[in-house]
Amino acid sequence: MADNKNVGVLVGSLRKDSYALKLAKALMRLAPSSLQMTQIQIGDMPHYNEDLDTDNPPESWARFRREMGAQDAVLFVSPEYNRSLPSVLKNAIDVGSRPYGSSIWEGKAGAVATHSPSGIGGALSNHAIRQATVFLGLPLMTQPEMYIGDSYNVFDKEGNIVKDGSEKFLSDCMATFETWLQRF
Ligand SMILES: Cc1cc2nc3c(=O)[nH]c(=O)nc-3n(C[C@H](O)[C@H](O)[C@H](O)COP(=O)(O)O)c2cc1C
Repeated sequence: MADNKNVGVLVGSLRKDSYALKLAKALMRLAPSSLQMTQIQIGDMPHYNEDLDTDNPPESWARFRREMGAQDAVLFVSPEYNRSLPSVLKNAIDVGSRPYGSSIWEGKAGAVATHSPSGIGGALSNHAIRQATVFLGLPLMTQPEMYIGDSYNVFDKEGNIVKDGSEKFLSDCMATFETWLQRF
């Protein structure tokens, strides 16, 4: 039996009808029961600024560091913005990485799922997230690759999975994520 793991889910889109949010909710629903999945909010954090990173940092940074820091693992779920990751997600990665020596990412592991209404599936965002975390001691699952193309036809407006095969694919991805996390 797999050990329980707490997984923080970070969504790289802030809009209420986001397909990344639909994808995140589907992955949370399909995850094996040993994975305790919790979405952690990132939209209220000011841009990272070292001048503000004192003993009394912005409350939203402290809240994010506390909540994300308590997790064993992270699942990034994001669209692609201009062939990269959305700035809100990069900001969360940066806030979590500081103060130097107190990064919340060290010792965690994770996975990345990206989407796009086009066929590209957010692949460049997926790899930009990997690049942004490569220095942080945060190994990310490499297979299966979660590039969800044609996302507006994978989910309906309510977030139900309506494309044949997608539910099984996403479910298999989360089962592999569970197995992979056991290494850490
Ligand atoms: C600023 C911006 C940049 C975008 N750049 C890309 C892109 O590089 N590649 C892509 O496939 N879609 C791009 N899109 C379209 C998004 O994939 C689409 O709006 C998607 O629905 C956003 O994700 P969400 O539904 O999770 O909010 C971009 C959208 C915005 C707002």
